[in-house]
Amino acid sequence: MCGIIGCTGRETETLDVLLHGLDTLEYRGYDSAGVALANGTVEVCKREGEIDRLRAAVDPAMDGPVGIGHTRWSTHGPPTDENAHPHTDCTGDVAVVHNGIIENYDELKAELTAAGHEFESDTDTEVVPHLVEDALADGLSRDEAFRSAVARIEGSYALAAVFAGSEAILATREGSPLVVGVGDDAAYLASDVPAFLEYTDRVVYLDDGEFARLESGSWTVTDAEGRLLEKSISQVEWDAEETAKSGYDHYMLKEIHEQPRALRKCLRGRVDELTGTVDVEALEGLTAESVQFVACGTSYHAALYGAQRLQAAGVPAQAFLASEYATAPAPVSEGTLVVGVTQSGETADTLAALRRAQARGVETLAMTNVVGSTAARDCDRTLLIRAGPEIGVAATKTFSSQVVACNLLSATLADRGDSREIVQALRDLPGQIQEVLDSSRAEAVAERFVDSDGYFFIGRGHQHPVALEGALKMKEITYKHAEGFPAGELKHGPLALVTARTPVFAIVTGTDEEATKTVGNVKEVEARDAPVVAVTDGASTVDRYADAVLELPETEPCVAPVLANVQLQLVAYHVANKLGRSIDKPRNLAKSVTVE
Ligand code: F6R
Repeated sequence: MCGIIGCTGRETETLDVLLHGLDTLEYRGYDSAGVALANGTVEVCKREGEIDRLRAAVDPAMDGPVGIGHTRWSTHGPPTDENAHPHTDCTGDVAVVHNGIIENYDELKAELTAAGHEFESDTDTEVVPHLVEDALADGLSRDEAFRSAVARIEGSYALAAVFAGSEAILATREGSPLVVGVGDDAAYLASDVPAFLEYTDRVVYLDDGEFARLESGSWTVTDAEGRLLEKSISQVEWDAEETAKSGYDHYMLKEIHEQPRALRKCLRGRVDELTGTVDVEALEGLTAESVQFVACGTSYHAALYGAQRLQAAGVPAQAFLASEYATAPAPVSEGTLVVGVTQSGETADTLAALRRAQARGVETLAMTNVVGSTAARDCDRTLLIRAGPEIGVAATKTFSSQVVACNLLSATLADRGDSREIVQALRDLPGQIQEVLDSSRAEAVAERFVDSDGYFFIGRGHQHPVALEGALKMKEITYKHAEGFPAGELKHGPLALVTARTPVFAIVTGTDEEATKTVGNVKEVEARDAPVVAVTDGASTVDRYADAVLELPETEPCVAPVLANVQLQLVAYHVANKLGRSIDKPRNLAKSVTVE
């Protein structure tokens, strides 16, 4: 999705700061990029395609004490130089960047065109600088003109504007993230903290309907009427190094390897090994008669797992795809807790589902990785998963952290005395993931099956969400067909697709009934000549029927899915790498999906 960066107060370094910020925002997914610097005039440079194309096109002498930049992910109009942001008014004195969608842009464009404004792009965004231009012509100040333009638009947006002859950035948000970075003599603006994290870790999170004015080292936030608001500065715990590749070929591989550290952070200060107790400050006093999880994609798979854990703990729970829940929510009662599982905290579908729940008066909890994200600020409570910044578009470490956080939630709500083994298993998990990372044969498996027609993933119970997640990871970064199923479902249809050219990854741990039945399903697959890759702790007989084995250390059955998933992440990574795919930025995908 689109990204915004802005800075004021960096004098001759403005362009460098903007381009660096755009590089950092790349991971959100984009198809064009641009910058505008304001001095006596406003200079704009924008290009369809990669940021390097913009970097090559930009005049290094382009200078100004203030500027804004943007990575665009097309919604209105194809990716072209003209449709890239920033957009300007007829005079060229106002430049605007925008994330989100302006729903009433058609009528505004018709009105502005009739009044003589000339448009250069197909975008919804371009109405904004023209509205500002009209308001300035009516004699309003820049701040008033910006507010009056914003008052005319409907939709979801994060907007930032610069003006010829001004060193200020004016910005606002409604339903799309925007955060101010507070430097000593400079101020920054971004849709995402990593964009300016190299320069400051002090941030001010804007809320919907608020307006920010940044000028050199100063910043103010006002409401839509221009009344000053008191906002506090937060310290971000992430550091810039966490957003660097640190010698890995891809962020995804780095983030897979960061899982031990991420899980240690998630657990720190929250579990007591000796007593087996879980004590999470954010969940203090929380009770729930039933739980509904809402989430999308990988987070939905973690939510499915979370619902299983709560059910096992005696708390009725269900997981819903947020996009479905937003339009057709499940019945709730007074004691229902709705949990939004969202790494970014900005996924529009999940936010819509949470809002739907709030409108029905139930308590909401955001399970998220991003402090100050919309979900974190909108929900009654926030359980931070503490995975650290995840830059690769494909979610990896955040899934593991979500799974661990689901265990913290279920232990809190269940209030049972039998959590000691689970707590111990959770404490052992980082070390066991390290074992898997150090000894995995995933690359050899990837090499052997890279030319396959497609991939199937099967698992029962707690391994079912991992089967789904294994398939999602495979398809999103390799562009190959992959499907995950509850192991018992394969024979009810999908088995028709199984051939000698479609390996089946079977996740089987332990020796319980689930494992025995899944081994039975593996035999069905084997009888159809399909290669079987067993992802297993070796407790069952599954390896007898397998063409390849990915080994897992032994652990509690409910913790094993994290280990199995690490093996599947590595397989997907290596297949994608061998196919030369764009692993960190898969085609058509964005890290943070801020449209419904
Ligand atoms: C897949 C992936 C997506 C996200 C989904 C929800 O690798 O990253 O499926 O999980 O878009 O995103 P969040 O967790 O930010 O709500």
